[in-house]
Amino acid sequence: MSSNYQYKTTDNWEDLAGLTGEVKDLLLFLKNSGCSGFDCTENSQNILKNWGKGFIAADDNLDQVKHDMKGCRLCGLHQDRKHIVFGEGAFNAKVVFVGEGPGFEEDQTGKPFVGKAGQLLTKIIQAMNLTRDDVYICNIIKCRPPGNRNPKPEEIQACMPYLRRQIRLIQPDFICALGTFAAQTLLDTDTPISRLRGKFHFYEGIRMMPTYHPSYLLRNSEKKRDVWEDIKKLMKEMDLL
Ligand code: URA
Repeated sequence: MSSNYQYKTTDNWEDLAGLTGEVKDLLLFLKNSGCSGFDCTENSQNILKNWGKGFIAADDNLDQVKHDMKGCRLCGLHQDRKHIVFGEGAFNAKVVFVGEGPGFEEDQTGKPFVGKAGQLLTKIIQAMNLTRDDVYICNIIKCRPPGNRNPKPEEIQACMPYLRRQIRLIQPDFICALGTFAAQTLLDTDTPISRLRGKFHFYEGIRMMPTYHPSYLLRNSEKKRDVWEDIKKLMKEMDLL
């Protein structure tokens, strides 16, 4: 880095945290690909793990994020929503489950994953020997698209800063991305979920396992076996197996 190096947005913590996240992802990717030639000692790994945490505004917290979302009108979804579905669970969860967006029941109650797909997710969490209170559950978008249509790119773009803040504040060791929208958005890719699932990726230095969405499993029960394989890989890394 040259001595006159200046990152273009050093006055913007959000971008700086994103930049360190990308560098972290790259270094962890190289390490996990078996590359050597850079410092992989435990000490460096620990430094890397904590790197960038200082870029969270000192007084930020999940209640503040929730407060900032009150009455959000950043996209058109505010018009039909009954509730913003912020997310719930342990503030210090080791794993965060990220879904797509609220459905009918979630919009009615303001809670994530409480409908049929949610009941299946709860069973998956229990199969990991955890409860919903042990983990954190949230979505890419926080308001229900009318008729449960797919979220539009501009809706995802408007809502992502909230999720980024949530994840940076929780600082989980793992993310489980549920379905196409969660996996593709967090990894900034259009690779199909069928190719992303079953392998660990990185989101801002956090190990991330994409798997099929519980709603998809309700329609394609033969894919449950794949999801269980993905979840077992996650459990192994979480020392739950
Ligand atoms: N599907 C999701 O992706 N999220 C929910 O909260 C409920 C259903």
